[in-house]
Order: sequence, then C-alpha cells, then structure tokens
Amino acid sequence: MHIEVVSGPIEAQTAQVIAVGLFEDTELPVKGAIGELDAVLRQAISTVLSDGDFRAKKNETLLLYAYGLVPARRVILVGMGKRTHYGKEAARQAAAAVAVKAQDLHLTDLCIAAFDAESDTVPLADTVEAVTEGALLGTYQFTELKTERDAVKPSLERLAIVAPPTADAKRLAQSIRAGSVIAESTLLARDLVNRPANIASPAHIAGVAREFAASAGLDFRVLDKAAMETLGMELLLSVNQGGGEPAQMAIVEHNAQHTTLPTVVLVGKGITFDTGGISLKPSEGMEKMKGDMGGAAAVLGAIRAAALLDLPMHVVALAPLTENMPDARATKPGDVKRSLKGLTVEIINTDAEGRLVLADALTYAGEFSPDAVLDIATLTGARVIALGDHAAAVMGDEALIGRLKRAGEITGERVWQLPLFEEYGEQLKSDVADLKNVGGRPAGTITAGFFLSKFVPEDTPWVHIDIAGLGMIDKARSYVPAGGTGFGVRLLLEFLRGWCAEAQE
Ligand code: BES
Ligand code: MN
Ligand code: ZN
Repeated sequence: MHIEVVSGPIEAQTAQVIAVGLFEDTELPVKGAIGELDAVLRQAISTVLSDGDFRAKKNETLLLYAYGLVPARRVILVGMGKRTHYGKEAARQAAAAVAVKAQDLHLTDLCIAAFDAESDTVPLADTVEAVTEGALLGTYQFTELKTERDAVKPSLERLAIVAPPTADAKRLAQSIRAGSVIAESTLLARDLVNRPANIASPAHIAGVAREFAASAGLDFRVLDKAAMETLGMELLLSVNQGGGEPAQMAIVEHNAQHTTLPTVVLVGKGITFDTGGISLKPSEGMEKMKGDMGGAAAVLGAIRAAALLDLPMHVVALAPLTENMPDARATKPGDVKRSLKGLTVEIINTDAEGRLVLADALTYAGEFSPDAVLDIATLTGARVIALGDHAAAVMGDEALIGRLKRAGEITGERVWQLPLFEEYGEQLKSDVADLKNVGGRPAGTITAGFFLSKFVPEDTPWVHIDIAGLGMIDKARSYVPAGGTGFGVRLLLEFLRGWCAEAQE
C-alpha cells in the first residue's frame, strides 16, 4: 500500500472513495472542512446526521454516493465517538473501519481527511501515524496458503491522508514511515502466528528472524541444541526432547556495539506447537496451539521495528523456540531437571512448558547485563479467565509496569497488574526438588509468574507479560482481523519509545 499525505480540500481529491470522520457531538450545520464537503454534497452529511440515519457512534460507517458532485464516486462517513475520547487509538480504529469498508467494496484507492486535524490536544503527527497503522492493520489478510484467488480481497493500493496546508509535510512523512514500520512489524508477527506448525518450525522462525535482521541491520545468532546442552539449559531441552524439531534460541540484537546505551532484553515464549506433551491436551481446539509462539513473534516484531526506527537503545530479543510433543523420549511427569540457573525443577505437568523454556531464557538474559528484562508469553489459560479479551496480565517491577501501562494506553494493548506476594511461593514447593513447575488451580497466572521470577538475573528489574488468549482471536475486532493478532509488538515498541523519550528529557 502506498501511503502519502496530500493537501487541498477533501472534496477536491481524486480517489475511488473519500472519507471523513465525524464526532458524536458534531453541531449542525457541520462547520469547517467537513462543512465545505457537506455544502458540495448538497447537505448530504447534515441530512443523515439530522435524520438520525448516522449517529457518528464509534467506528460506525455510512457509504454515500456522490453523483458527480465531487471527483470521487463515493464518500464514507465514519463515526469517531466522543471528541473528548479522541486519541491515537480512536484514530487507529476509525481508519481501520474506513479501510475495511473500502476493502469490502473491492476498492483500492482511498483518501481520508486527517481526523480532528485542527485539534490542539492530539498532534497531527500522531493522527497520521495512527491512521497509517489502522489502515494497514485492519486490512491484513493471511493469504499465503489460499490457492483460490476469489477467497482473497484485493488489497488497498493507495491511501492518501489529507492534512491542512499549514502542516509540516516532512514531519508527517516521518509519521507515515513510523506507522508503516510498526504495522508491518505487527503483520510479521501475525504471519508467524497464523502459519501452521508444520511450516512455522523453530528453524523456520529463526530463519525469518535471520532474514529481517540482515535487512534491518540487526545482529543475529542462534543457540542450537548442542550449545544449550553445553550451557546447561535442561529446562528448555526437557520441553524439546519429545519433539522431532530441534530447539533453537534465536538472539537478535539492535545497537549491540553501542555499549553506553541502556540495555533492554525482550524474551518471548516460542512454543511452535503445544500438545501439552505427556500431560496431553484435549484434541478439541488443540489446533490453536500453533499460536503458542505469539510471545516470540512479539519480541521479533518489536525489535525489527526498534531497529528500523533507529531507537537509541540497546535491545536484545531472545526467542526460545521448540515444539512440545509427547513421545517415548518425552519428559514424564515427576522428572527433575536442572535449570541454567542451577535450581532443580520437578516437572509435575509437562503442559506447563512455557515457564520452563522462559526460565532458562530469562537466566540467559543476564549475559547482556540488562537494565530491564521483559518477557511475554501465551502462558496460562487462567489469564483468559481473569482478564478476558481486554488486558494482558503483568507482574513484576513497579516502575516497568508503570511504563507498560502508559504504552498500553497509547497502543490499545492494555495491561493490568497482578501481585507476586511471597506467599504464592508456597504453592510451588516440591518434596524432591527446589521447586515444581505448577502451583495448582488457584491464581494460576500468578504462580506461573512467580515461578519465572526465580530465574531472573539478580537485581535486574523484570516484568512478565501473560498474553494467553490475546495472540489469536476467533472474531475480527476493529483493526484486528480474526487469527493472529501480533499482540505485544506495538506494546513493546511503545514501551521502548517511551523509555527513549524519557532518557532524552
Ligand atoms: N500454552 C498454554 C496456555 C494457553 C492457554 C495459551 C490458552 C493460549 C490459550 C500453556 O502452555 C499451558 O498449557 N498452560 C497450562 C498450565 C497449567 C498446566 C498449569 C494451563 O493454563 O492450563
Ligand atoms: Mn502448555
Ligand atoms: Zn504453552
């Protein structure tokens, strides 16, 4: 999709369809730039508003035909909800509503008037970035495994965003670039989640990371099984031992040479398929477990974006990659393994595998002497029960959680904190080893987080993000089509951006 900023009145734009956003509380007759469009359209906009046919409710759309009154054949009105709620997330959603509507009509050439362009609360640059993201994210389709072309909608070829003549064109071009990089990195994560496990093996995912690392100027290396054995990553290897695909740990690094920059390590759970192992999952819905590498996809997408946006920070992405399969050689409930950290773990349930691979990866993160470590993982079904569709669970360092909360508000990938009180540790006591890998049903998300906390490098601020159930959705929502969501890419990137912005102050 070619995206550009244009100027001149919206009614003068040549495109298959032009679009404008209207707030719920719009006074009639409509004034300003949209008022001028309304006049050319012989009050069509005022009329649908006053008749109540269009109420400008959040993300509501209405298609009007222009009958030669403007160069474009069609006009889409999109509801923006309340003006006081306007911000990047509202712009993202409204842009997606318009772009998806155009895509459903098989249109390929769209022009949107920048929402709330005269606003003094939301910078135009933010609106343009968000509109870019919304259009790209909303119109994503996972088509690579479809051979029947009529199952695929034509993709949008051009999106023009109309900005006022006074706008700083150079700054807005940067916004389009940032929005595109962020959206495309999210789509990379979605592709990885959507790809079935027979394609998206550990080697495949590491290969994708190697490729984008090369093109974005990132350092890349991989720890293979032999390296993990030498290091003593028995927990990670215990998950891998029942599978047919060798484990890999992809290591991607941005600004590795810049030793004075703050270092943040991002660790993402990369279970390419989670059968549960010997603690086998029920077959109903098991196909969804191809998405159990959503955390790995998120850290890879985030570091790609960080590199392309040249963030002044040393960022490391660690993706421990393996499938979790039952087999004659698989780990058996009750087996005890020694972690990279040295702690022994009694593996009561082989389906609690994410925390095992993350534990060794978190310890390995210490190699980089990080200022902060974040892990992100489709870790517990209990997360879905606790918070449903609208917030990831976070645990750990208060200051990092504060930063993540702000990033969540900006990106719409919101987080909510759960406690890690010492008392939860009781549930992880083992009779035979230092700890066991499950803590029973109560507080399942917390005990998983508590388990991880034991493997974090000493004195390192750390936060755990549980995204189980958020990496993949059954029903499209706003700018997220059904399937892989790429959840976490934008959250992590915004976290890093916020850190850089603060460091500059
Ligand atoms: N990958 C699952 C968690 C999951 C559940 C992700 C639903 C996405 C949607 C994880 O490995 C798992 O199996 N967790 C178990 C842990 C239990 C055995 C302590 C769970 O949540 O049931
Ligand atoms: Mn599992
Ligand atoms: Zn899992």
